[in-house]
Amino acid sequence: MVEEIIGVENLTKRYISGIIRQKEVYGARDVSFNIKRGEILSLVGESGSGKSTIANMILRLLKPTKGEINLLGKSIREYKIKNYYENVQGIFQDPYSSYNFFYKVDHVLNQAISHSLSWVDIAEKERIIANTLGIVGLRPDETLGRFPHQLSGGQLQRILLARCLLFKPRLLIADEPTSMIDACARAEVLNLLRKLRDKSGISVLFITHDIGQAQYISDRVIVMKQGEIVEGGPTNEVFLNPKEDYTKALLSSVPSIYRRWYT
Ligand SMILES: Nc1ncnc2c1ncn2[C@@H]1O[C@H](COP(=O)(O)OP(=O)(O)OP(=O)(O)O)[C@@H](O)[C@H]1O
Ligand SMILES: [Mg+2]
Repeated sequence: MVEEIIGVENLTKRYISGIIRQKEVYGARDVSFNIKRGEILSLVGESGSGKSTIANMILRLLKPTKGEINLLGKSIREYKIKNYYENVQGIFQDPYSSYNFFYKVDHVLNQAISHSLSWVDIAEKERIIANTLGIVGLRPDETLGRFPHQLSGGQLQRILLARCLLFKPRLLIADEPTSMIDACARAEVLNLLRKLRDKSGISVLFITHDIGQAQYISDRVIVMKQGEIVEGGPTNEVFLNPKEDYTKALLSSVPSIYRRWYT
C-alpha cells in the first residue's frame, strides 16, 4: 500500500471581512484530498480560488474553521509544532519577503540547521549546508557570505528550498514558487522539485494558476474554484479530457504555444 503523507477532510475556512457590514467569504469549503509518498499534486485555479488558504492551513499558519488535517494518519493537532515542521515545510511566491536584508543569506540556513540539527558541531553543520546547497544546484562560494540583494530571485528561492531540505521534510508545500522569478530560473526550480522527488521520495503540494507548470510537474491535479474542488485526477486525464466547463475555460486561457498539448 502506498503511504499517505497528508490527508485533508472537509477542510473549510470561513473568513469574515469588513468593519461596518461584515461579509463572509469561504476561502475553502469542504475540501478533501490526500497526497501519497513521492507524489506531486498540483492545486490549480484562478486567483482567489482558495489555493493559498489550503496551503496555509496545512502549514498551520491559518486555523481551519472546520475539517481535519492528518499527517501520516495522525491529526496535526497531536504534533508539537517543532516536530510538525520537521515533516512539513513550505516555500512561497515571493522569495524576497523571506529574507531580512540586513543579514547575509547564511542567516536563514544557520537558523534552520540550529533547529533541525542542534547537536551537530559547527564543522559538520557547514558541511551539511554546503552539501544541501549543492543539491539545489548552488555553489557555496557563490552564495554564502552574500547579502540577499547580491543574488538573483532564482538563487534566493533555491536557498529557501535548501533551507526546507535541512529539515528533511516528508512534504513540501510550494505556493506559486516560480511566479516572481524569470522563465529560465522557473524551469530550473520545476526540474529541481521533480529531481528531489525522484531522488528522495519527498511529496510536493505544488500550487499554481499556470496550467502549463501543473501539467509539466504533477502526477495528479486538483482544480479549485471559489474555495471548492471542481474536479481532480491524474494530470493528463484532467487536462486532456476535462469534464467541467471551468477546467475547459482555464485550459482555453493557456497561450496557444501550449494549447496544442491539450487539444
Ligand atoms: N485574510 C482574509 N480575510 C478575508 N478574506 C480572505 C483572506 N484571505 C483570503 N481571503 C479570500 O479568500 C479567497 C481565497 O483566497 P486565496 O488567497 O486562498 O486564493 P488563491 O487561490 O491563493 O489566489 P491567488 O492565485 O491570487 O494567490 C479569496 O476570495 C480571498 O479574497
Ligand atoms: Mg495564493
